[in-house]
Order: sequence, then structure tokens, then C-alpha cells
Amino acid sequence: MKLMRAVCIYAFGGPEVLRYEDAPRPHPGEGEVLVRVHAAGINPIDWKVRKGEWERITPHALPLILGWDLSGVVEGLGSNLKHFKLGDEVYGCADVSRDGAYAEFIAVRESDLARKPRSVDHVHAAAFPMAGLTAWQALFDAGGLAAGQRVLIHAAAGGVGSLAVQMAKIKGAEVIGTASERNHDFLRKLGVGQVVDYQRERFEEVVEPVDLVLDTLGGDIQERSWEVLKPGGILVSIVSPPSAGTAAAHGVRQAFVMAKTDASLLCQIAALADAEKLKAIVETILPLSDATRGQELSEQGHTRGKIVLRVVQETTG
Ligand SMILES: NC(=O)c1ccc[n+]([C@@H]2O[C@H](COP(=O)([O-])OP(=O)(O)OC[C@H]3O[C@@H](n4cnc5c(N)ncnc54)[C@H](OP(=O)(O)O)[C@@H]3O)[C@@H](O)[C@H]2O)c1
Repeated sequence: MKLMRAVCIYAFGGPEVLRYEDAPRPHPGEGEVLVRVHAAGINPIDWKVRKGEWERITPHALPLILGWDLSGVVEGLGSNLKHFKLGDEVYGCADVSRDGAYAEFIAVRESDLARKPRSVDHVHAAAFPMAGLTAWQALFDAGGLAAGQRVLIHAAAGGVGSLAVQMAKIKGAEVIGTASERNHDFLRKLGVGQVVDYQRERFEEVVEPVDLVLDTLGGDIQERSWEVLKPGGILVSIVSPPSAGTAAAHGVRQAFVMAKTDASLLCQIAALADAEKLKAIVETILPLSDATRGQELSEQGHTRGKIVLRVVQETTG
């Protein structure tokens, strides 16, 4: 049996359940390719699954390899493939019900992958998939954001937020974002017109009515967001389903988005990256063996952009 290095869990729990060890190298099945992972992006779902918080939504078999955002190179082929061949550089978001990408290899459905953006390295490519799919599907598919509209993006400096800001600007929307002071200059450079310091001011007191709120935080932030919507506006949450009754009482709409993998959208995101319209912000790069540190940092909730695990040291690009 061929082995690979991977980060596995044998039980749900705190960061101490993560183990960096040898694991069997997966075999690609029908419609799947074997990808040599060059970089794996960390998302909050990674540590939420580790804690067992996802077991009612998506049950997992243990042991489990965590982390589903990846960028790498096709190194093995399953059967009935239509899109990829050996040596192709790919990126994408693997099925979160299966073993993930904190590993040297992963077997992934072709339909969960697209060609990696050519102009960025694997580390930056691995920062795009889940956050990019989520931001796009929330703003445009659920929220119908259009040119000239105003959007309030909560946690605008985070993984989803920093891509949502750029996507909304590409569309021609006016962007308002919340962040702590450390991120204000960063957000202004990204195109945010009004930055609200959530530690010093209440956004509902300083933000003029908006067409769309992107809720990346839930709880009290979601509740206070109703007040800033224009009549007929929409509150889109990626954290918890907003109340339909409360939306109706405010004369606004609501939606809850669970990101779906979508190869054609991944192609669009790659094209935007290659056109230098969309930039992956990677604050921290760690080796695969430091996945524990990466998850601890992510869980603190103050990452600017993304944390990415480097699995293969790049020589170029
Ligand atoms: N439904 C889905 O399909 C889906 C997909 C992806 C993510 N999600 C969920 O969406 C949430 C956000 O994900 P993410 O990857 O963007 O998280 P993240 O990158 O970890 O978010 C970190 C950012 O949050 C900001 N932040 C923390 N508290 C804040 C507050 N009270 N107000 C404003 N900003 C605040 C921080 O900015 P400061 O340092 O300035 O505080 C930091 O930049 C997570 O709960 C994640 O699980 C859902």
C-alpha cells in the first residue's frame, strides 16, 4: 500500500485531535482524478467539522482527513474522465463529506475542479474556492446584486468578505464593510467606500440604507442588520437562516446560502484572477505539518483573507 503524509482526526474535538501522520494514498474512482496537493486552504468549516459541529448536517466516517480547498496537479486518473489529463494544474473545493486536502494526495470528482488560475501560485489558488464560491453565490445568485446598488459586507476583511468586496466592486456596486481598525486601510485599498469600525461604532447608526447585507457573522449582527436595509432589500446570510417573519415585518427579503461547488464558476473566478480583477489575500502560509496552528489561528476569527497550508514547496510561479 502506498502511503502519504496527511492530517487526520480519529475523534471529534479540540486542536489536539489533529494528527500529522502516514495515511493510505487514495485511489481515484469513476469520474475522479488523483491530485497531488500543492496547497490546501483553511476555512472555518474545517475546524467546525473537527469539533463535530457538522455531524447532524453532513456525517463523516473516522478517521477523516480535513480541509477541502485545494490547488495541485493531476497525478492519477480514474475512469470515465472528460476534462482533465495527467499533469493538469487544477484547483477547487472537494466534497466535504469525504476525506479532504490536508494531505499529499486527494481523490476528487472532476466536477469539483477547474483549471487553476495561471497567473497565481498554488498557495494563492487554494485561497479562492470555498470563499469565492460562497461570496459569488451569496451576492449574485441569492442577492441579485446589481451595478449601482449599495451592499454592506460584514467581516469584509475575512476570507469570504475580502473576495465579496472585490466581486461587488467588479459588478459596480457601492461597498460598505465592517472591520476592526487594523483592517481599515487594507479595505479602503480593496475598494470599500465606507469602513465601519465595529469595535467603536454601531453599523446601524452610521450606514445609510443598503440594498443588500451579506451576513458572515450571524447572531446579534444578523438581528441588527434588518434596520439598515432599504424597503425590498435583501439580507443574505452564510451563517444561519434569517427569519422569514422578521424579513416580512421589515418589508425586506432574506436568503440563506450554503455554497455549492460549481466548476463553471471556478473557471470564472480563475479568469477574473488571471485578468488581475480578483486577488486572493493570504495572510499566513504554513507547512502541512502546522495544520494545528493554522486551525487555531482561523478559530480566533481575525484572519485577514486566508490561511493556507503549503504542501509542496514551489520552485517557480
Ligand atoms: N454557508 C456557507 O456555504 C459558508 C461558506 C464559507 C464560510 N461560511 C461561514 O462564514 C463565516 C465567515 O467565514 P470566513 O471564511 O470569511 O471567516 P474568517 O476569514 O475567519 O473571518 C475572519 C474575519 O472576521 C472579521 N471579524 C471578526 N469579528 C467581526 C465582527 N464582529 N464584525 C466584523 N468583522 C469581524 C475579522 O476582522 P477583524 O480582524 O478586523 O476583526 C476577520 O478579518 C464562518 O462562520 C464560516 O463558517 C459559510
